[in-house]
Amino acid sequence: MTAACQATTSDGVELAYADIGTGPVVTLVHGFPLDRSMWDEQVAALAGTYRVIAPDLRGFGQSGIGPDDARNGVPMERYAADLVAVLDAAGVREPVVLAGFSMGGYVAWQFALRTPERLRALVLSDTRAAADPPEAAANRRAMAERVLAENSPAAAEGMISKLLAPATLAAGLPAVARVTAMIRGASPAGIAAAQIGMAVRPDVRDRLGEIVCPALAIVGAEDAISPPAEMRELAAALPQGRFVEVPMAGHMAPLENPAAYNAALLDFVGRAV
Ligand code: MLT
Repeated sequence: MTAACQATTSDGVELAYADIGTGPVVTLVHGFPLDRSMWDEQVAALAGTYRVIAPDLRGFGQSGIGPDDARNGVPMERYAADLVAVLDAAGVREPVVLAGFSMGGYVAWQFALRTPERLRALVLSDTRAAADPPEAAANRRAMAERVLAENSPAAAEGMISKLLAPATLAAGLPAVARVTAMIRGASPAGIAAAQIGMAVRPDVRDRLGEIVCPALAIVGAEDAISPPAEMRELAAALPQGRFVEVPMAGHMAPLENPAAYNAALLDFVGRAV
């Protein structure tokens, strides 16, 4: 069963999400500046056994965006509240397994800390618990201004070389074309909103002990944005944290090595539900 659905948030933004399969709910939250299609391989692997709910965050994919979001930014807390609105609209009352990739992980922290009763287990994929240092935050604001001034996502294309492992880029694997297409399809408003939101995201490192559900930290072995050593540390700080490194993958491990990624994900979800 495949369904593309819409939810409306408390501030009137229309959010699109995929709702596929039946069974315990697994929710997949994409990264920046991407959309829910980044999870296609994971949806295919999960949907035979689970109900998979994969939203487009506001400003990305087929979701709308608020009139002031591009200028003011969307805090990670707002995206997390949007996620609750999606689950409510889908009629999901039971706690879910939530997997957040990179920026989706920043959102997942807020979901876990603010609505722990909605959470059964947490997957942190290629993400960070630390906030941005001032220089990184300034770079985000600069990109936000540029995409809005140029009315184009082109300024975000420079990220591709950091998102993918050198071997993925050199071999021209399908992940390269997919990631490029997602970035080129992103809206300037969505990019600006997320960059400003990420620039002010809270540092959650000293709150990881509060997240007591089973948790999997999973990362591409060559991730240059959220390196394995940092994610190993993060897993150790989570009371029920496990750590898995995906070989032959950079930051975009779910696309670069879906076979290894999915094996770890299915094993974790199977134990958690
Ligand atoms: C992502 O993949 O979501 C981004 O790399 C996150 C970030 O820019 O910190």
